[in-house]
Amino acid sequence: MVPFENSEQYALSMDEQDSLKDFRNQFYIPVIHGRDALYFTGNSLGLEPRSTQEYVLNELEEWASYGVEGHFHAATPWYHYQDSLTLQLAEMMGAEKDEVVAMNTLTTNLHLLLVSFYRPQGKRYKILCEYDAFPSDLYALQSQVLFHGYSPEDALIFLRPRPGEYILRTEDIQKTIEKNRDTIASVMLGAVNYYTGQFFELDKITKAAHDAGATAGFNLAHAAGNVPLKLHEWDVDYACFCSYKYLNAGPGGVSGIFIHNRHATDSSLPRFAGWWGNDPETRFSFPRTFIPAKGARGWQLSNAPVLPMAALKASLDIFSVAGLERLYAKSRLLTSYLEFLIDDINTAKEKTDSGQPVTIITPRDPESRGCQISMVVRNGRSVFEKLTDAGCITDWREPDVIRVAPVPLYNSFMDVYRFAAILGTLV
Ligand SMILES: Cc1ncc(COP(=O)(O)O)c(C=O)c1O
Repeated sequence: MVPFENSEQYALSMDEQDSLKDFRNQFYIPVIHGRDALYFTGNSLGLEPRSTQEYVLNELEEWASYGVEGHFHAATPWYHYQDSLTLQLAEMMGAEKDEVVAMNTLTTNLHLLLVSFYRPQGKRYKILCEYDAFPSDLYALQSQVLFHGYSPEDALIFLRPRPGEYILRTEDIQKTIEKNRDTIASVMLGAVNYYTGQFFELDKITKAAHDAGATAGFNLAHAAGNVPLKLHEWDVDYACFCSYKYLNAGPGGVSGIFIHNRHATDSSLPRFAGWWGNDPETRFSFPRTFIPAKGARGWQLSNAPVLPMAALKASLDIFSVAGLERLYAKSRLLTSYLEFLIDDINTAKEKTDSGQPVTIITPRDPESRGCQISMVVRNGRSVFEKLTDAGCITDWREPDVIRVAPVPLYNSFMDVYRFAAILGTLV
């Protein structure tokens, strides 16, 4: 445990020692009231890398120069553009290269994956999910069970924390799977819960799902680029991710999928097909029968959206230089520092106020979270608005949570220190 200190001098010295400190200069930091904002919403929309415009402009220039020929003659031919992202994405997901592909948008991909991996049969037709799942995931799951002729009230099993608790215990998830072992067709959770920031134990949950004869899938919206993932090793069946949060690819950025090789190599697995999922060798000979491309690429539908993919490439190249291990190590320190400073606010206020003004609901164990602290704050909505006025960009999630995400690529220890100092005056 690092002996943190609540002082400006300490925060400055941590920044000086930080080998990643210069990466901040590679991003545009929004300006509020004439100074850099304290930006803590990389879990919602990551900041724009300064290189993004150049990457996108390059593709616009290729388009200007080549027109349709850019599909084959651009420096990165558009015909294969999605493949230029694969190795970096696979490393981030802990995947083999054929298990990952960038395509479509997030909720679209979740539906496509459920087409292949939620295949109810007989009494096995239920999906296990979080009660506090992100609404889009919930709607996707509800509409999938309806599509198959079931009612969401019956076919969705919800995981809720124990009374008085905020986070889900792995043992409770395992027990719920075991209790419903004959009826669960798939387990589908957010790998990192958007509300609490809890990083689930994907390996144990996947094993429990498999032991019960179900598939295990995860939405990595809040996990990709945030926490270490070993999807292949953990035997996860399917997963989808977005690129506009920690991957800094811009609003509505391209999404992607992971499909374990066990399934990705199975060309008989039912899927909704489109021409881009056809083997690129024969794609342009327009075979009457779909021949799936190797691996996850066989789930693509449409030709690659090159401009948003160029934006993603700009950010992935920054990740590659920074190195995932260094980023995760800094992330743990930075988030633990924020936690320490919030605890300090509570300790100081306890002496004067009645009780502690801030309750951290994110797991205390750094292994069970990424770079996010979610907190329930007394008079939370008003504190949130005052934080915004003071130049701190956090977010408010109904009913009562302020989320703060210190992102290791561009947030500093001074950001965290200054944020906590402002919070301390507001609670
Ligand atoms: C967990 C989760 N699922 C789904 C979505 C919706 O994603 P999209 O609008 O890209 O489909 C989000 C967006 O923030 C999310 O965080």
